[in-house]
Amino acid sequence: MAAQTPVDKELEGAPDHGVGAMSDQFYSDAQLYDRLFPGDERAVAFYRAEADRQGGSVLELGSGTGRKLIPIASDGHECTGLELSPSMLAEARRKATERGVEVAWVQGDMRDFDLGRTFDLVLIAANSLLHLHAAEDLESCFRAVSRHLAPGGRLVFDVFNPSVRMLAQADGERRRRDALTFVDPERGEVHVDVAETYDAEAQVTRGTWFFSTDAEADLVVVPLEIRSIFPQELPLLLSLGGLRLVERFGDWSRAPFTSEAQVQVCVCAAEREG
Ligand SMILES: C[S@@+](CC[C@H](N)C(=O)[O-])C[C@H]1O[C@@H](n2cnc3c(N)ncnc32)[C@H](O)[C@@H]1O
Repeated sequence: MAAQTPVDKELEGAPDHGVGAMSDQFYSDAQLYDRLFPGDERAVAFYRAEADRQGGSVLELGSGTGRKLIPIASDGHECTGLELSPSMLAEARRKATERGVEVAWVQGDMRDFDLGRTFDLVLIAANSLLHLHAAEDLESCFRAVSRHLAPGGRLVFDVFNPSVRMLAQADGERRRRDALTFVDPERGEVHVDVAETYDAEAQVTRGTWFFSTDAEADLVVVPLEIRSIFPQELPLLLSLGGLRLVERFGDWSRAPFTSEAQVQVCVCAAEREG
């Protein structure tokens, strides 16, 4: 487990990790997360360009270990990261300090927060939004975002485009994901198996992730539950929270969104701005 250090600010009333009962454990070892998902540089470049285009201050919700926010802050933007997991926050702070970059790190829950100010750009990157399962939670998150947007401000987020083929494969069988094998400096090569089922009523893929080395099977076993947001419901959910979809891209080069797209990259504005 990563060492935990105090965060800059703990939001009053922030729940003690309630939301993510099914994702907390997944993010409780931030260094393991960074090795498992080395990140997509095209996504980082896209979010950096959005911050430059928008100008001014940036808030990221579910900021993780700072993959997007630390480069954005190093470009000269005033940045705040709101994150639920103390381990992810501690790792983000460590990396920012190492790189000499200033970011305000806040422990909080994106379902409801009050930072007492507005931002020019709010980001929710890398499927973080999909940790909110109930429509009410998404609505309350979007309402909080709407309250934090400065005039002319934008919300930009990415979520995967649910594929019926992929959801149908979630049959509960444990399978090796070779593409996710990574090297841990202390443990050596780590293999990842995943067993998933799809709960169609909740629109949630419920998974168990198994991490093993050749020496030790199942050294870490953690649940991960991720919602699907289908293309037609996405603007409706935004609208419940006082936001409107301005543009939707299907990849990081801003190609139009189509049914084959793997990702929904969304740019949104406050509805009050017409
Ligand atoms: C897939 S990671 C993405 C991290 C980062 N945005 C990135 O691009 O690398 C999802 C992050 O969302 C955080 N998270 C999950 N639920 C949250 C909530 N309700 N409020 C704030 N953060 C949350 C997790 O702890 C985790 O750090």
